[in-house]
Amino acid sequence: MAKNLSKVYSAELDGIKAKLIEVETDINVGLHSFNIVGLADKALSESRERISSALKNSGIKPPTKENRKITVNLAPADVKKTGSQYDLAITVGYLLATKQIEEFDTRGKIFAGELSLDGELRPISGALNIASLAKNKNFSEIFIPHANAAEAALINKVKVIPIKNIQEIIAHLENKKVIEPQTHTRIMPKTEEVSYDINHIKGQMNAKRALAIAAAGGHNILMSGPPGSGKTMLAQALMSILPPLEMDELIEINQIYSAAGMLKEDSLMFRRPFRSPHHSASLAAMVGGGTNPRPGEISLAHRGVLFLDELPEFHRDVLEALRQPLESGAIHISRAKHNLELPAKFTLAAAMNPCPCGYLGDAEKECRCTANETLRYGKKISGPLLDRIDMQVEVPRIKIETLRGASETKEGDTLREKIKLARQIQKERFKKLKNKIYTNSDMTSKQCDELIHLAPEADSFMKMVLDKSFISARGYYRMLKTARTIADLENSESVTSEHLSEAFNYKLKDKN
Ligand SMILES: Nc1ncnc2c1ncn2[C@@H]1O[C@H](COP(=O)(O)OP(=O)(O)OP(=O)(O)O)[C@@H](O)[C@H]1O
Ligand SMILES: [Mg+2]
Repeated sequence: MAKNLSKVYSAELDGIKAKLIEVETDINVGLHSFNIVGLADKALSESRERISSALKNSGIKPPTKENRKITVNLAPADVKKTGSQYDLAITVGYLLATKQIEEFDTRGKIFAGELSLDGELRPISGALNIASLAKNKNFSEIFIPHANAAEAALINKVKVIPIKNIQEIIAHLENKKVIEPQTHTRIMPKTEEVSYDINHIKGQMNAKRALAIAAAGGHNILMSGPPGSGKTMLAQALMSILPPLEMDELIEINQIYSAAGMLKEDSLMFRRPFRSPHHSASLAAMVGGGTNPRPGEISLAHRGVLFLDELPEFHRDVLEALRQPLESGAIHISRAKHNLELPAKFTLAAAMNPCPCGYLGDAEKECRCTANETLRYGKKISGPLLDRIDMQVEVPRIKIETLRGASETKEGDTLREKIKLARQIQKERFKKLKNKIYTNSDMTSKQCDELIHLAPEADSFMKMVLDKSFISARGYYRMLKTARTIADLENSESVTSEHLSEAFNYKLKDKN
């Protein structure tokens, strides 16, 4: 008897990693049945209905008309299969097993796509992740919905076949009408205006300097100042000076967005993300999770900026949950069966008022808060969180005359160049390391000891600082890293006491 069995490959998305799944289809004598086995969730068991309708509407004999027993097995059995992207692989497997299409070599090919009832392919989440999987496993081709082709084609060396509908893929597999593979997606730096350009901000030299350091080395920054002084605007202007993306970073970011189902055909992420969740954001929205875990804001801000405006207004548990990712650059979500790790290496930019009324320390307006109120307000941000912030800057109100008098400058353009150069210096510094890091802020304490050279006078300055102040071990290393970035912005080989004292000034403020 001829073999009524087929095997094709598909993929499951686990966080942002795609895993290879085998889809076996067996046609047996017996009463009609169509079953999917192997830890399938609800969306997947509904796949049977979609496939049957899609095939019927494409003029092909559907499983429902097959008076035999159809069993689809998804292996390995211990990986939970979620979502609807198996439709395409199951359909191809069924067509092969029932000999409705000519046999072809299924090795080296991955099929993923959701079907609509009329046989068209709907976009899926994680197409880029599937393309990376194919590359890593030496698979040569992936068949995915047309709408996902551009993102998947960011990965070179894998042939991406964009599929519009069932008939198209059948004609292709039978060599009757071959579909052109998607051309490799070229990176196009976006040129459109950012909402705030640093050039539009008048005065505020200190804050701008601090923002440049934060952008160059990926340091966390907290701005505080009275209402209307420009904190929110400054943080948004950070967008305009962030350095361009490296190819690897670009793939990482797009994989997260692809897994979250947030990549549209022409909305690939070619620049660093800037996320600014509202202070009412829930824990799950911020760190990610849920039954089918989705990346949260901190992962969506990976390799970019997470901006928390009105920092003390965020829920305490949300702020505390940032502590671990701020340290490790990833978030661990525990699930029923296994743990999931999502990347979350972001630069934290935060803004707050110094007290509830907002005018504490203001040169002209008097603060109306009691000492107790101010204390309580400050306490909303815990010590451990503050300890993870490298730079604290005050953003004072600038005089209206200054605002009216000053004209726009082009200093932002020079800043951008300097930041770009500083990133290149950092890249050079880290190129020999085994684990890939991009910025000074990513360094471990061991790497700091090995890679940061203090000028002799800086060494004695550091000793004095450590003797006299209450800086924590973490604070010490963070300050050292900030100083390294300041030196990089000047293209200085060693860190001098000037660099250190500037870094110390930014770090110091959390003592009061
Ligand atoms: N230095 C500046 N140059 C140009 N415009 C400025 C400057 N400072 C403030 N502005 C103007 O003031 C507006 C208010 O600033 P912004 O919203 O950033 O204040 P804020 O410090 O965040 O206030 P709050 O504490 O109330 O949130 C800006 O949208 C901008 O139009
Ligand atoms: Mg604001």
